[in-house]
Amino acid sequence: MDGVHVIDHPLVQHKLTLMREGGRSTKGFRQLLNEIGILLCYEVTRDLPLEMVDIETPIARMKSPVLAGKKLVFAPILRAGVGFLDGMLELVPSARVAHIGLYRDPKTLVAIEYYFKAPHDIAERRVIVMDPMLATANSAVAAIERVKERGAKDIRFVCLLAAPEGVAKLRGEHPDVEIWTAAIDERLNDHGYIVPGLGDAGDRMYGTK
Ligand code: PRP
Ligand code: URA
Repeated sequence: MDGVHVIDHPLVQHKLTLMREGGRSTKGFRQLLNEIGILLCYEVTRDLPLEMVDIETPIARMKSPVLAGKKLVFAPILRAGVGFLDGMLELVPSARVAHIGLYRDPKTLVAIEYYFKAPHDIAERRVIVMDPMLATANSAVAAIERVKERGAKDIRFVCLLAAPEGVAKLRGEHPDVEIWTAAIDERLNDHGYIVPGLGDAGDRMYGTK
């Protein structure tokens, strides 16, 4: 599908299977999400621009590549998006962070904002919006609208699991925003949950159910 990257790396697929299992502990679930965050970060940053700088090794002078331009902004959607953050910051320690607080109204499935804080120069940086679950896409669409309001132009979306309905909606509403995901599942159920999915990511991460 155009603009959608499904990461079929065996480590990602193996860890995702472990996360789907209903009996997985809260600690195990969080640990796996963190590990997959690192692997997805590797994929979503694959084409970051480089520039050549002069350095001196113990042996000789040389030109060598370093990342060009301003550092990334990682933008987790609270709560579950935070599960990706530490792993991604391990790979890109100087990234800035924007927190986007949203929850889905359980009846209407509309995304309700309760918190937003972003770096002042977000417009000049590539923004990686992250949330493990892309279900109806109401949360992702709202989060991306919010960072666009602040001027962000170079935006990517990373998730663990997506529903086909959510992928279609996000690509329709924000065609400039490409998606990185570990899997696209079958469908949404009547309550807006991904089937077969892994349940409620926030509750499983924090042990709140
Ligand atoms: C979950 C999940 C996403 C959202 C996805 O969060 O972490 O943010 O649902 O669903 P959508 O694509 O239909 O919008 P939830 O609203 O349950 O909040 P929480 O992370 O605070 O538990
Ligand atoms: N949010 C979740 O955490 N899980 C789903 O399956 C759908 C939305």
